[in-house]
Amino acid sequence: MTSSLPGLEGRTAVITGAASGIGRATARLFADAGAAVVVADLNAEGAEQTATDIGKQGGTALAVAGDLSDPAVITRLVAETNGRFGGTDILVNNAGVTDSKTPPARVSDQEWERVVRINLTAPFLLTRAVLPHMLQQQHGVIVNIASEAGLRGGAGGIAYTAAKHGIVGMTKSLAAAYRLAGIRANAIAPGPVRTGISATAAPVDPEGRDLLAPVLEMGITIGVAEAEQIASVARFLASDAADNLNGAIIPADGGWAAL
Ligand SMILES: NC(=O)c1ccc[n+]([C@@H]2O[C@H](COP(=O)([O-])OP(=O)(O)OC[C@H]3O[C@@H](n4cnc5c(N)ncnc54)[C@H](O)[C@@H]3O)[C@@H](O)[C@H]2O)c1
Repeated sequence: MTSSLPGLEGRTAVITGAASGIGRATARLFADAGAAVVVADLNAEGAEQTATDIGKQGGTALAVAGDLSDPAVITRLVAETNGRFGGTDILVNNAGVTDSKTPPARVSDQEWERVVRINLTAPFLLTRAVLPHMLQQQHGVIVNIASEAGLRGGAGGIAYTAAKHGIVGMTKSLAAAYRLAGIRANAIAPGPVRTGISATAAPVDPEGRDLLAPVLEMGITIGVAEAEQIASVARFLASDAADNLNGAIIPADGGWAAL
């Protein structure tokens, strides 16, 4: 698939959450396609590893470590990217955390704020920070990693579901606002993907898990994807092959969303 797509040479891609999982697979694929990649992640060691692996394969990558829920980290990420590469041409808002699936009546303020801040507010702040460069050059691509939980109510807890629906809305709003400015924003809504996301998740609430079980089991029965299968969709969206796609929310779930 990669070889038949237009390359990403001359483009700089900032990929959040690229120390592992979908983000790491996306960073590798984009670097293979010729992009200079900025690997942004809370996990400094993992971010360095992704950047080192890309370097060994002959690609160009810069690791920037930090917690993106801190606006100062977003400012530093954009400054380091601009300083090294001149600006962001492609942004993949991928970093995310799941919630505890606690039933809505018992969700704490802390959980709501943490999940919404990492999964929705941080992508907005980072997007806002890279838009001036994209607007100035009248070209830019934003790929948001949503979730099946951005399409339906039963694929996550309320904070995760609300944040992922928020990312879907943000994607459409960006597409509507900048459709004439050469900037495209699209989102991918993955079903279950084999990554380490549950290792870093809050402990799952048993009552909430049981409430969601029928929907989640349906997704798992349909199939658990590999990170590379989501990365390849991001690679397509980032390329000029997708230059007429704007505001699209693409399920990448083996057909779960079609049921
Ligand atoms: N794995 C799945 O089943 C699945 C399904 C649908 C959507 N998604 C979405 O895919 C995206 C990537 O998840 P993944 O499955 O690859 O998981 P992952 O845990 O392997 O990767 C997420 C990365 O985000 C980073 N991160 C988390 N919080 C951060 C913060 N505050 N600042 C900076 N970096 C932070 C983590 O360190 C990690 O490297 C997430 O947005 C997730 O919601 C995953």
